[in-house]
Amino acid sequence: MCGIVGYIGYREAYPIVIKGLQRLEYRGYDSAGIALYDGTNIKLSKTKGKVSDLKNKLEDEISTSGSLGIGHTRWATHGVPNDVNSHPHYSNSGDLVIIHNGIIENYDALKKELSKRGYTFKSDTDTEVLINLIEDVKKNEDTKLGKAVQIALNQVVGAYAIAVFDKNKPNEIVVARLGSPLAIGIGEDEFFIASDASPFIEYTKNAIYLEDEEMAIIRRNKGVKVRKIKDDALVDPYMQELQLNLEQIEKGGFDHFMLKEIYEQPEAIRDTFRGRLLTNQAIIKMAGVEDNMKKFLAADRIIIVACGTSWHAGLVAEYIFEDLARIPVEVEYASEFRYRNPVITGNDIVIAISQSGETADTLAAIKLAKSKGAFVFGVCNVVGSSIARETNAGAYTHAGPEIGVASTKAFTTQITVLSLMALRLARAKGTITSSEFRHHLIELETIPAKVEEALKSDGYVQTIADIYKHATNFLYLGRGFNFPVALEGALKLKEISYIHAEGYPAAEMKHGPIALIDEQMPVVVIATKKGHYEKVVSNIQEIKSRKGKIIGIVTKGDKSVKELADHVIEVPETLECFSPLLTTIPLQLLSYHIAVMLDKNVDQPRNLAKSVTVE
Ligand code: G6P
Repeated sequence: MCGIVGYIGYREAYPIVIKGLQRLEYRGYDSAGIALYDGTNIKLSKTKGKVSDLKNKLEDEISTSGSLGIGHTRWATHGVPNDVNSHPHYSNSGDLVIIHNGIIENYDALKKELSKRGYTFKSDTDTEVLINLIEDVKKNEDTKLGKAVQIALNQVVGAYAIAVFDKNKPNEIVVARLGSPLAIGIGEDEFFIASDASPFIEYTKNAIYLEDEEMAIIRRNKGVKVRKIKDDALVDPYMQELQLNLEQIEKGGFDHFMLKEIYEQPEAIRDTFRGRLLTNQAIIKMAGVEDNMKKFLAADRIIIVACGTSWHAGLVAEYIFEDLARIPVEVEYASEFRYRNPVITGNDIVIAISQSGETADTLAAIKLAKSKGAFVFGVCNVVGSSIARETNAGAYTHAGPEIGVASTKAFTTQITVLSLMALRLARAKGTITSSEFRHHLIELETIPAKVEEALKSDGYVQTIADIYKHATNFLYLGRGFNFPVALEGALKLKEISYIHAEGYPAAEMKHGPIALIDEQMPVVVIATKKGHYEKVVSNIQEIKSRKGKIIGIVTKGDKSVKELADHVIEVPETLECFSPLLTTIPLQLLSYHIAVMLDKNVDQPRNLAKSVTVE
């Protein structure tokens, strides 16, 4: 997955494209490039490294004038990250220029065919094959760029969001989408292209999101024409008014987006409640659930599909749904589910969880489930994203943009939405009494304030981070609702500090991980009151007798764990089912501070990307 940006209008394209690339670096950042066209010369520069490296290179190397520009920030799939493999790519004649996010799966066969016809390739990329295919079609069919792109894309297998321009057509950019997102910002006499709307938010609030298998020809001073790639049918595109604002995507005084997003959680959870959790009236209102209540009540089971942190939120939801609503739940990695030939019936409900709403495997899992007749409900953060549009119904998390690659507020707001759903269904099914229901609502409403209190442990967590920052392994243990939190805590540490960490259900420790424990091994144990507390205390004793270092996450006022652990971090008391919303906070902070102390790039950890639009 990569980020693409483009501009055509009356302003200088360079500052718009370069700033846009910086905003899209969450999508990949191993190389970057830009092509600018002033109607006479194309100026193209690209480099391995970040957008800041490109900026330095560019400003020394070439003039940056031109009111047509396209840019790319890359997360390598075909070909190692180096200058040559970076985008944009020229066609052999030097007339056509392309940027591409996605994978052309049949690139090898196409490349062989084009080679036979005399085409040569400088890079190892599938993208250079595509631009030469477009050139070949354009020559052979003696057609314009738009038509050539269309014919070429009909020969391609794979996924793409592309932007292409032709030296002979200085007033035109052609874009197309299949499987990778592409938004077109519509200004007055100017147009913007981007993988999401953040690059053009200060210029226009009007955007068209291309659907899969659609392409658009964007002409300076003329407008945008959208067509179906397959049958050439003209499409009347839906113009959306964007809700995003600039402040939401800037750091707001924090050193890193991740820290900002950790601290935004109380507000983000409140936003997730807004209009849904009506404690005074003792009701939960969720249109997507209400409108489909019959289906939910008739469901034999719920299958949750997701990846990464969203999968962990799904695991927490499994415990909550089964406990409160007594509906059997299975949680699947989307990437496994989609290739497993799973048994799915029309009585199954599939819940797809995704912050970005663009994760390729989750999207494919949804399509599979739908094809087998299941009703698919989406829990997404990004409004209008591919998953939000592909699902039959859904609920947004309303967490606001999450930029840090390590997911934080997306996780807690996903759990919040799923808790609301489970409670609403529990009430409808009668699996909890009205007084239990009311009690849960009252408690859920206190969570944002309790998250604020949990955030106060920040200073002490920093002290602990300083003590253990040079450890090479960490173990995270939890039980019940907090087992997935242990997995999530370990994932956070791995992602941003590159320290090896494993999450385990506390009782499983005896079946393997206990062999790892010695005086060098920090073990983070979630041991909040209720929920198998005594059992977890016994596990702590087992660690202690093997000289492991214990960092306990405990309920405020805890005594037993305090006596055994090397350190304890307190979180406020709450109902067991909501405890993940609090216990996860110190784990996010711990990984953040360790990574900062180790001088790692917290917001853009190596090899990772925020939005994984390739399988
Ligand atoms: C990537 C991100 C993770 C995220 C996962 C799933 O791996 O780095 O933070 O949890 O994708 O993404 P999604 O947008 O579907 O929640």
